[in-house]
Formats: sequence, C-alpha cells, structure tokens
Amino acid sequence: PDQKIALKERIKRLLKEQQAVLVAHYYVDGDLQDLAEETGGCVSDSLEMARFGRDHPAKTLVVAGVKFMGETSKILSPYKRVLMPDLDATCSLDLGCPADQFSAFCDAHPDRTVVVYANTSAAVKARADWMVTSSIGLDIVAHLHAQGKKILWAPDKHLGGYIQKQTGADMLLWQGSCLVHDEFKGVELELLRQQHPNAKILVHPESPEAVVAQADVVGSTTQLIAAAQNLDADEFIVATDNGILHKMRMAAPGKRFIDAPTAGNSATCKSCAHCPWMAMNGLQNLADVLEFGGNEIHVDAETGRKAVVCIDRMLDFAA
Ligand code: 13P
Ligand code: SF4
Repeated sequence: PDQKIALKERIKRLLKEQQAVLVAHYYVDGDLQDLAEETGGCVSDSLEMARFGRDHPAKTLVVAGVKFMGETSKILSPYKRVLMPDLDATCSLDLGCPADQFSAFCDAHPDRTVVVYANTSAAVKARADWMVTSSIGLDIVAHLHAQGKKILWAPDKHLGGYIQKQTGADMLLWQGSCLVHDEFKGVELELLRQQHPNAKILVHPESPEAVVAQADVVGSTTQLIAAAQNLDADEFIVATDNGILHKMRMAAPGKRFIDAPTAGNSATCKSCAHCPWMAMNGLQNLADVLEFGGNEIHVDAETGRKAVVCIDRMLDFAA
C-alpha cells in the first residue's frame, strides 16, 4: 500500500509538471480511474474520452485505455503529445480489421456509406464516411437509414447486427468481434436470471445476440453505469468487462452487481469478462511514461487529415 501511495503521488506531481491530463476508460484498473478524476482528467466511455481530450487545454494527453483511443485523441489534437502506458494495448476488433482488406471490401461496395466503429485503426477510419461509438451508433445509423442510405459496417458483427435489427437499415457487416464480449453466453444467462428473478440485465452491445435479447438496458459503458444508478432495482447482472464494476459500485452504493456468465472462469479463460489489453495499464507504467516520455502515439499526417473527417461528423452529430 505504501508503494501504491508513493506511485500515485509521483503521478500527480508529474501530471502537473508536464501540463498533462489523464483520460481513462472504465475498463482500466480502478486506481487509474480514481486518479484521473482526482487530478481533473476524466474517466468515461470512448465517445466522451475523445471529446474531453479534444477540448482540454493540456499540452499532453495520457490515455489509459487501448490504442484506438490514443489514436483518436491524436487525430483530434495533432499538436498535443499523446502518451499511453503501454503501446501494445490493442483491441481484437482493431486487429481483426486490417486496413488493406477493409479497403478492398469498401472498393467492392462503392454504393454504400461506410460506417466504422471507434475500435479501429486510424487507417481504417481514413477510409470511412462516419465513425461511431457504442453510445451513438444506433442514432447515427437511424439517421442515415432515414436518408435512404445503404450501409457498409465494420468491424463488430454483434454491434452491427444489433443496430441493423433496431433500425431496419440495409447493412453489410464485417465479421469481427470482441474477444471479451463474445464469451458471454445466452443459455447460461437465462439460468442465472432464474436464480435472480428481480435482477435487471445490463448489456454492452458487443455481446452476442442471445445475450442482448435478454437485456433490460443495452448501451455504452457510460449508459450502463447511468442505468445502474437510475433503475429502480437492487440487483443487476452485467454483461461487459468487469472493470466497469468499480464505477458502478461507486455510482450505485448498496446495489448488488453480478458478472454475466461466460463459458469459462478466470482460471480457464484469460479474457473472460476482462480485456487483456485494458489490463496492461497500471500505476507503474503510467508513472514511467510520464517521467521518461516514451510510448508516444503518432499518426501519419495524411492519414490523420482523412480520418478526422469521420470523427468530426460523429462529434458534430452528438453535439
Ligand atoms: P464504450 O464506448 O462503451 O466505452 O466501449 C468501448 C469498448 O471498447 C467496449 O469494449
Ligand atoms: Fe476491444 Fe473488447 Fe477490449 Fe473493448 S473489451 S478494447 S472491444 S477487445
């Protein structure tokens, strides 16, 4: 505990000295989330992380999350220094959608409006008409559908399928998935619900259809935390990364949160209910990156200029 306190103090001092601000996601270690809030940074979903980083006057943004979050921050603020505790922290959706294959997919369907999830590389975003996050994807696709647009969607097939079902839009889906959310199981969830008949079910839309179908609320991490706080229930079953429970417990003290079931348990399944890349963010590597300045995110200027168009469209739509 003493070492932890010393590390936190060191990080606070370095953030001040470097005119840096900490932008954290709800899936990272609770200590990092608390530090972000204590030091005037933010902890939020990926839409708010992007907006906060863009609007904050700090010279340096330290993004505690995964690579696409750091890249989005850099694209929106090319003149800020963007650091990450570990540059190897990526995302299975990003890895499963290589820019060259994605570009060929777009070339084959030139009549479609290209909508990509935030969880993609800068090069994929550079090819897109719109970027969306889980908090606003449904609204944006509904808007495009109302204009008669046909959609090419990438990479998450579950989120894409959910949006397609809700909006009735004509969507051609890339077949990617999140290795964490893909593990939640519909049949096991049904059994768990029978044991907890009064529990409300909170589900991130990266989860499989059989899980989403049982949800009381489907939403982004911020939206799920708000639901935990606002819904009139004492018990919740949560189908998303269990890093979110730190904030949920703070937002809704006294309520009970249960992990949605996965095929394995944490001993047999490394990525069950916790993202291995989000877990790469810690106090030690955060302190080190601030002190020694490595792990800077760079986005090629031409790619950044192209990619910013689809991100700005989303932020203007959200405003
Ligand atoms: P949110 O935008 O809901 O925070 O989701 C990001 C993410 O990577 C979920 O796995
Ligand atoms: Fe990517 Fe899934 Fe990790 Fe989110 S939880 S960053 S979608 S691998």
